[in-house]
Amino acid sequence: MQSNKLILCADLLDLTDDPLRFGEDSVRFQAEGALVIEGGKIVDRGTKADMLARYGSSATVKEYENKIIVPGFIDTHIHLPQTEMIAAYGEQLLTWLKEYAFPTEMKFADYDHAKQVSEIFLNELLRNGTTTALVFGTVHPQSVEAFFESAQARGLRMIAGKVMMDRNCPDELQDTAEQGYQETKALIEKWHGVDRLSYAVTPRFAPTSTPEQLNACQKLLQEYPDVYMHTHTSENVAECEWVKELYPNSQDYVGVYEDAGLLRKRSVLAHGIHLNDREIDCLCRTETAIAHCPTSNLFIGSGLFRLKELHSRGVQVAMGTDIGAGTSFSMLQTFNEAYKVQQLQGNRLTAFEGLYLSTLAGARALDLEGVIGQLEPGCEADLVVLDPEATPLMQLRLQNSNSLHEKLFALMMLGDDRCIFQTYSFGQLVHSI
Ligand code: GUN
Ligand code: ZN
Repeated sequence: MQSNKLILCADLLDLTDDPLRFGEDSVRFQAEGALVIEGGKIVDRGTKADMLARYGSSATVKEYENKIIVPGFIDTHIHLPQTEMIAAYGEQLLTWLKEYAFPTEMKFADYDHAKQVSEIFLNELLRNGTTTALVFGTVHPQSVEAFFESAQARGLRMIAGKVMMDRNCPDELQDTAEQGYQETKALIEKWHGVDRLSYAVTPRFAPTSTPEQLNACQKLLQEYPDVYMHTHTSENVAECEWVKELYPNSQDYVGVYEDAGLLRKRSVLAHGIHLNDREIDCLCRTETAIAHCPTSNLFIGSGLFRLKELHSRGVQVAMGTDIGAGTSFSMLQTFNEAYKVQQLQGNRLTAFEGLYLSTLAGARALDLEGVIGQLEPGCEADLVVLDPEATPLMQLRLQNSNSLHEKLFALMMLGDDRCIFQTYSFGQLVHSI
């Protein structure tokens, strides 16, 4: 009988735990290693010599020269419809939404447009090595239908939701508490848990939902305990002031979501820049994760995220691109900016911490540890084959690197889609340079 095993041979690099807490003890590097893949999953790993001796005679073998295999990147906050208005000039959050995001999102009333952008969006994710993302659609259910259909056809692990928004936005983008509830419920019933797709209840942010709508979100979370909750918090100072006016009875911004019963494991809030002590404690207590989106925070001038402080206090932090306020689909470039955001606060992030934030931390934020985010037998074979010598400058820099950390750090600072040699999802090649 023919075996369907696939063996990928290269250097292997992943994290067994959090290097922000455990340092290099949590870094797992296997020079000249091999992953054995079958049925979409990693079934064994070890040295190339051992794996070939054990399985080589009955498997397809791919040998990579001077490449590093890492887990597929996990983007914990991104907007599908904003793909086409990335790099919009000159505004901060509230005017940026009005001038750029809302008019673009109106186009997603048209299913064909949503489908076309979904294909482009998934191509971008995969050519940047991102194999799982937590995705905002638009208010239109068809935006999420189109996205899930495209992701399903490619066999990807993706999480998405229709935006719920019943005030303070253009009429064309508004639902009501009841309509948002019904449309979300229908999408959950149709898509949540189908293949590798999951649903996220997605109120845009507190200013665009009435308390009635947030209550409808809570009802959905009670009815479907394993769906996700995905929204924004404390990104911009003017936004925070507005939330105080709109929700005078809540203690603070995070308190609005807490009062509505929306915070728990599998809740992901983007940004969290201007949080007070109570809010940070509340995130820990409720096991709510924060998606740190540095390219966005710098681009629309939102502020500097206190990653080290939140992490050391026990908040689960992962990384997001926040396309289209974010300026790159690349998690390498996103880490580049995260590094600089920490430099501006007198903190250092190592390359290993950067890789953690883009892989295992994302899996933890999404409650998917053991499923994705590591090169571990039992995990799904969502992987990236990195080329650390993708450009002449990178070749030169590599020749002058003495340690694994120096090499990886240079790769993460200088690298982008040119370094993503190949991407695998569920053991299938889904992108190749
Ligand atoms: N807050 C509410 N909506 C958005 C959005 O689309 N992008 C960002 N960056 N922040 C938001
Ligand atoms: Zn966002």
